[in-house]
Amino acid sequence: MKISVIGTGYVGLVTGACLAEIGHEVVCTDNDASKIEMLEAGGIPIYEPGLENVIPRARKEGRLSFRANPADAVAFGDAFFICVGTPPLPNGDADLSAIDHVARVIATEAKSPKLVIEKSTVPARTGQELKRALSVYARKSNVKFHVASNPEFLREGTAVGDFLHPDRIVVGVDDERAERQLKDIYRPVLDRKFNCPVHTSCCPDGPAPVWQTTTINSAELIKHASNSFLALKISYANMVADLAEQLGADIGEVVRAMGMDPRIGPSFLSAGLGYGGFCLPKDLQAFVHLAERSGVDFTMLREAEKINKRRIGHFVEKLRGALWVVRGKQIGVLGLAFKPNTDDVRFAPAIDLVNHLLGEGACVRAYDPKAMEKARAILPQIEYAKSAYEAAKDAEALIIATEWDEFRKLDWDRIREAMARPLIVDGRNLLSPREMQDRGFEYRSFGRPD
Ligand code: UDX
Repeated sequence: MKISVIGTGYVGLVTGACLAEIGHEVVCTDNDASKIEMLEAGGIPIYEPGLENVIPRARKEGRLSFRANPADAVAFGDAFFICVGTPPLPNGDADLSAIDHVARVIATEAKSPKLVIEKSTVPARTGQELKRALSVYARKSNVKFHVASNPEFLREGTAVGDFLHPDRIVVGVDDERAERQLKDIYRPVLDRKFNCPVHTSCCPDGPAPVWQTTTINSAELIKHASNSFLALKISYANMVADLAEQLGADIGEVVRAMGMDPRIGPSFLSAGLGYGGFCLPKDLQAFVHLAERSGVDFTMLREAEKINKRRIGHFVEKLRGALWVVRGKQIGVLGLAFKPNTDDVRFAPAIDLVNHLLGEGACVRAYDPKAMEKARAILPQIEYAKSAYEAAKDAEALIIATEWDEFRKLDWDRIREAMARPLIVDGRNLLSPREMQDRGFEYRSFGRPD
């Protein structure tokens, strides 16, 4: 099929590249001309593992191209994926102005009926508004549009694999034709008929994704409800960790056993600095607002949000407990991205933490394997190290703020020698307390006996 993808952020670029990978002809567009220029020149504006293989191959084979002019993308596609940002407004609501803008462009440029699919995370009922907007903006041409919601469940860092091997594909539609078109789009993923660029051996044997057709309202709600539930789960684990700390229990042991219960499941129970990124915090806020406007009291989610915000203060208390005075001290920070395997620093707990430390008068030298360029743009006032060892040099404390695999395998003897005081405060429970103590470190983490 001929597909246009509007928006080339983390979601749009992965969606466009993977749709091309499974055999469609795809044109991606973005109103940020510099991004399109970079993509056309062979660059990739984000770090997302797998894209470095998928994008050049699809371009070489002529299935993927980038256009700065959105009218070109509208003229090209039979179906459009809307993947533009829906950032939070000051009151926490999702800002839907980019979606409205795209609707206007599609409606004024399209000459024949099109399928318009919302992939950006949006509050329930946005699809209805989108339908209305398209018909209002197309009143002169009288072109008809079908609208569908196809929420993404892509995790940054593993998004290419998540797209090609999803556990479920949710499509919200209100007519059969839209559902048929979406099935055609996803057919290779459903039948697992493509050469997987990320897991070469798993395609034939892995379970096929579950296809769930819903109403448009339900599809929109599924996405918000899923992400809010994940946030709730993390905050719950963090509260249990605080309790474990007081009672002398070990949160690692506790969540391991909890997770063996299939009703609970093992994921998203890691205690630490809390959740960040561009999805969970904003989706939870928008969901709470949606509930409030709908007359439903979802205070429970507000609590989850408060718990998450308190993680940074709680962590700084731990650091202060060890250092006594923070002002004037040299502190090394390992990790700036909101989670490993991404360069994304939006709403990253690590960034909040560094700001907190700077506010207390600490001197910070940070290192991240991929996110330093993006961090520099929002945190120009700290020092950036070329390696974890350089970040540790002369530091009176070394903080682990993102659980990159690389940090598990450091030469800890070398780190200890480089530091002014061998103190590690682990915000992600990445390391073993026993092992670090045996190596001569003072070691603090969340919810585990010191
Ligand atoms: C999330 C959803 O998982 C995905 O389905 C959706 O489409 C987009 O939002 P993402 O934002 O990439 O994906 O990150 P995710 O892997 O969900 O992690 C979110 C945050 O929670 C990270 O900051 C992570 O460090 C934190 N986290 C995760 C924890 O603190 N503890 C955990 O146990 C798991």
